[in-house]
Amino acid sequence: MSLAAGPSGGEAVGAVAESAVMPTYTRYPVTLVRGRGTTVWDAEGNAYLDFAGGIAAIPIGHSHPSWVNAVAEQAATLTHVSNLFSTEPQEELARRLVSLAGFGRVFFANSGAEANEAALKIARKHGLAAGRGSERLEVVALQGSFHGRTFATLAATGQPAKHAQFAPLPEGFVHVPAGDRAALEAAVGDRTAAVLLEPVLGEGGVIPLEPSYLALARRLCTERGALLVLDEVQTGVGRTGEWFAFRHAGVEPDVVTLAKGLGGGLPIGACIAGEELAFGPGEHASTFGGGPVPCRAALAVLDVIEREGLLENCRARGEELAAGLRALDAPGVTGVRGAGLLLGVAFDGDVAGPVVRALMARGCLATEAGPKVVRISPPLSVSAEEVDRFVTAFGDAAASAVAINTKEETET
Ligand SMILES: Cc1ncc(COP(=O)(O)O)c(C=O)c1O
Repeated sequence: MSLAAGPSGGEAVGAVAESAVMPTYTRYPVTLVRGRGTTVWDAEGNAYLDFAGGIAAIPIGHSHPSWVNAVAEQAATLTHVSNLFSTEPQEELARRLVSLAGFGRVFFANSGAEANEAALKIARKHGLAAGRGSERLEVVALQGSFHGRTFATLAATGQPAKHAQFAPLPEGFVHVPAGDRAALEAAVGDRTAAVLLEPVLGEGGVIPLEPSYLALARRLCTERGALLVLDEVQTGVGRTGEWFAFRHAGVEPDVVTLAKGLGGGLPIGACIAGEELAFGPGEHASTFGGGPVPCRAALAVLDVIEREGLLENCRARGEELAAGLRALDAPGVTGVRGAGLLLGVAFDGDVAGPVVRALMARGCLATEAGPKVVRISPPLSVSAEEVDRFVTAFGDAAASAVAINTKEETET
């Protein structure tokens, strides 16, 4: 295994070739070529325990045989006909999602941002229906949230640094501090079309919202005529130990969005909205959204989660992982938080990058969620033995990265 300087210095693995791809991501210097279950291999044959999981997008592990067969069979049968025709995989997936959500109809998109864009259009339509002069054009979202990179979802995202080069963005997005009840009460009023929340702020640092905060949001929306829109792009499809994270809080949203884990590695997004909020003919569209192959892939994901008891496994392994990470009492760690198998380890300094690279050098993958938080989101099928191995590597990586960081700080 050859060591090279990482994207921002420090301990790193492998080497990056000259790329013709736009450098929108600061990439780790590793080219991955193969995956199976919780393991991925790089071009040099090194194996990694994948607790990054494609950023919470591989619920049933890499290349699960049932998923591979379903995708291959569908690809050999029917791949694309456009949404001018109905297809069996799309109809079946919509029925399954409505049954799991307990309400609504589905619009299929290709990504999380697109699913949220659909939700925001539904909110606008609902807001305009209030009538001339009393339109509800505002969306209340959270500071630190992440909802996507299209213009509207970027405006909804509560991270001003990401807005900087792209102004002017669509107007009407109000951001309040996450978990602040008084701020939410004050922000939701007769101009509010929707309140948009991630049950666990993922990119913003793996910050779970209290069930009672979600319940407050539900009550305010109901009382004041706004829609409760939950962005479950990262938390949905079993990631927190329930099909939807809103189940933990016992609230039902008006609209919920999914993406990441749904396709098990193929791009698909879904916006589920109450019957009365559904788009009508011509109001929204997507050429590829809900195509036969990603829908068949998503059906295989749902089947495997059910058949292999992966919600239960997610809860059990999630508890072991959180307990193991806490018991490490690693230097610089201020907390381990999250739900199910979406966990964040928070540090008191900007060491998430060095810790992730130190993990990589020890054969484990995880991701950064901001400069101070390491996000851990393995497949829901992860085993107890893999959890143990990861926890051991994490203790070692955190100690090494924090020691190097402290030494650098002392020397400068
Ligand atoms: C909560 C949430 N919403 C939306 C998105 C955007 O999804 P995509 O990258 O598929 O557009 C993400 C991606 O990280 C996300 O975590």
